[in-house]
Amino acid sequence: MTQHSVCPPTESDREVKGLHVITWGCQMNVYDSARMTDVLRPLGYQAVEAPDAADMVILNTCHIRDRAAEKVFSELGRLRLVKETRAAEGQRTILAVAGCVAQAEGAEILARAPYVDIVLGPQTYHRLPEMVARAARAAGAVIDTDFPAEQKFDFLPDAQAPQTPGGLTAFLTIQEGCDKFCSFCVVPYTRGAESSRPVESVLREARRLVETGAREITLLGQNVNGYHGEGPDGRVWGLAGLAEALAAIPGLARIRYTTSHPRDMDDALIAAHRDLPALMPFLHLPVQSGSDRILAAMNRGHTAAEYRDIVLRLRDARPDIALSSDFIVGHPGESDADFEATMQLIRDVGFAQAFSFKYSPRPGTPAAGAPLQVPEDVKDARLQALQALLRTQQDAFNDGTVGRVVPVLFTGHGRKPGQLSGRSPYLQAVHVDGPDALIGQIAQVEIRERYTNSLSGTLIQERAFA
Ligand code: 5AD
Ligand code: SF4
Repeated sequence: MTQHSVCPPTESDREVKGLHVITWGCQMNVYDSARMTDVLRPLGYQAVEAPDAADMVILNTCHIRDRAAEKVFSELGRLRLVKETRAAEGQRTILAVAGCVAQAEGAEILARAPYVDIVLGPQTYHRLPEMVARAARAAGAVIDTDFPAEQKFDFLPDAQAPQTPGGLTAFLTIQEGCDKFCSFCVVPYTRGAESSRPVESVLREARRLVETGAREITLLGQNVNGYHGEGPDGRVWGLAGLAEALAAIPGLARIRYTTSHPRDMDDALIAAHRDLPALMPFLHLPVQSGSDRILAAMNRGHTAAEYRDIVLRLRDARPDIALSSDFIVGHPGESDADFEATMQLIRDVGFAQAFSFKYSPRPGTPAAGAPLQVPEDVKDARLQALQALLRTQQDAFNDGTVGRVVPVLFTGHGRKPGQLSGRSPYLQAVHVDGPDALIGQIAQVEIRERYTNSLSGTLIQERAFA
């Protein structure tokens, strides 16, 4: 898979934002204020002395003293004026209330002081970057971060690169950004909010790609199955509707999409896998972990049982569907039992292919500052065990295609003279002896042999005449 280039702003062109923290109460609060300042640094915030120079003001409160709530409301009244004055000058101020009063009186604060953007209790400081990002987005602002670019974890193929004219397989970006804020991930900060291209614009580009030779299109997005583009009927279309419209384009034989989130795997999309032969029976559906505790810590928003259930429903809809996934080992807090739950999920589901990673802290993301970081040697051992299991499954899956007849889209020549190369519905590389005229065509191939990273077979039409 090609690497996607990420271009976050560099230190020099990133706007520095002012952060003013007002701390009341105990040493604990002083410590918490420092931590909040730390987690906001990668979002471009630096401490400033005065609230009127601040793009964000955090009021870190304390409950111990009498009439603490009243004191908060009177301070908020002052900060409201600062916010309004700055607004008149075209500057935005995010106002946050943290600490014990926020914990105890969150609802009342939001009711009595609706100009407050964020209320967060002491248990949720690690989610501050997410909250700030959400507040900034709600106001239409773009968040600038200095999260380091990390191509390894952002491996969507590069759809912006000019497509090869006459390319038989093409990528088409339909959605960008992410609103999910997984604990370990930089994408919601670096790529911004989820947004989808309008249906017509996608269809237009798809038709153009097909006119210039594409037979297979892979729809791309950070959260591609969260697609919600404006349709020609003025309604919002999901990915299922879009796939159906794409499947109707004459000449477009195969449709894929990547990368998906389990939470967005809705009934309509599952049904599309049943109803649309062009939708390839191979789905990349990252699960990351098989432990409910870790899935919750990761902020994934689903359980292992829910993932298993999605897989069952997909297999019900499309019995020949094969799955691929992403896994992270060693997320903070991952115990041996959690890891074993991941191994069990892999054994239960069975994956045709997978990507797996050792958790690596990304400064500014909630998991990076979390307690119970897993030692490197433990991560290594877990990754090895996990990859060994996945490799066995991948080999078993490829072995399982030997003796089967599969449709292969021929995309070019193989290494040997007279040999063609193509891809199966499962993105397996397949080599056969055959005529050049088959390039660009789909033909049935009986798979004969499995190699480490490819398959070979024979054209079954030829066999009929042999
Ligand atoms: N550490 C390890 N793996 C990560 N990924 C994303 N962020 C991290 C991180 N901090 C992995 C996830 C994701 C894939 C694209 O990269 O598995 O699905
Ligand atoms: Fe990152 Fe994917 Fe989670 Fe979004 S859904 S935060 S892109 S891992």
